Amino acid sequence: MLVPTTHPLQAGLTAESPLISAYRGIRPATTPVWFMRQAGRSLPEYRELRVGTEMLQACLTPELASEITLQPVRRHAVDAGIFFSDIVVPLKLVGVDVSIVPGRGPVMGKAVRTAADVAELVQNDPAQLDSALGPIIDAVARTVAELGTTPLIGFAGAPFTLAAYLVEGGPSKDHIRARTMMHADPESWAALMTWTAEITGRFLRAQVLAGASAAQLFDSWAGSLSPEDYVRHVAPASARVLDFVRDLTFEASGTETRVPIVHFGVGTGEILPQMRDVGADVVGIDYRTPLDEGIRRLGASVPVQGNVDPAMLAAPWNILEAHVRDVHRRGLDAPAHVMNLGHGVPPETDPTVLTRVVELVHSL
Ligand code: CP3
Repeated sequence: MLVPTTHPLQAGLTAESPLISAYRGIRPATTPVWFMRQAGRSLPEYRELRVGTEMLQACLTPELASEITLQPVRRHAVDAGIFFSDIVVPLKLVGVDVSIVPGRGPVMGKAVRTAADVAELVQNDPAQLDSALGPIIDAVARTVAELGTTPLIGFAGAPFTLAAYLVEGGPSKDHIRARTMMHADPESWAALMTWTAEITGRFLRAQVLAGASAAQLFDSWAGSLSPEDYVRHVAPASARVLDFVRDLTFEASGTETRVPIVHFGVGTGEILPQMRDVGADVVGIDYRTPLDEGIRRLGASVPVQGNVDPAMLAAPWNILEAHVRDVHRRGLDAPAHVMNLGHGVPPETDPTVLTRVVELVHSL
């Protein structure tokens, strides 16, 4: 297995990159930009590479996962690679029957609905994941060796978002069954959240150890929760995930640092401070909350990431350009801002538009 002798942060390769500087709250000369789902179906070179290989199989093939991660960095000259994988990969690696159905998302062989289902699932020892993470470590190590001074962002799904798939058995609109379990059977819910935190935390830690310079926790569906439910039934497990990377320190430019942590969810305008409070350094804001309003809710002291509306990518260039300029202007209220979308790149996006957005952001 390929393991870098020195972490890119420690080697001084990425510590002062625009992305890592911004994540640390130091505004760089040019605004860094990357896109959630920048690797994927919007790229013809991705579609070509994926022919005949299932999604999860691609994630577990290091050469493929690495090449797919690098494709958008080469094409768009974005300021970061995001590791090509999926939030359900660690579930798959501990033996959960999960597949990714194209156009739909993660689907479970069996939903985790009852106390007995939860008890059965959590019998599965999270520590056994460590010996299954080889393909992930290998893929990250290969990728950072190619990326050089461009940082790689590692990521994981937060316990609530993973539980939303486990309990529902697949994608759902309001995650009703999961949200019912947290109230109807709080003990089983807590056991499920703790187990999921142990799994997803190990997945994130492995990526950081193998060379990721930042870590993003995706709680994509946390926007369906009230602030009270979030704080009581979800936030402790998300904080537990971050404990898996918080203790990892690197000596970069003579100072001890740890990887910056970004926390993002869709429709989370009402819980932004609570999402910071689980231990995030940077908060991702979706397109529903104006960026300056999100910054205000965070007390104007937190670096932010976001929040170009993905729908704008298919609008005429002058409309998209005005929108990107507006987002950039609103982002000036934060200590630093990393330009991104308010959610993932739609598969039908013209990739030349993404390249043009990168050029625009770098010129502002
Ligand atoms: O470029 C990147 O952003 C990196 C790769 C990445 C993927 N999934 C690849 C992927 C990341 C960061 C994820 C995280 C992920 N997976 C999240 C959190 C981010 C978010 O979008 O909110 C969630 C909720 C999932 C679960 C999931 N996996 C969904 C909803 C889907 C889409 C289903 C579809 O086909 O539309 C997937 C599959 C998936 N994950 C694809 C990719 C590139 C599409 C697979 C394909 O090309 O067939």
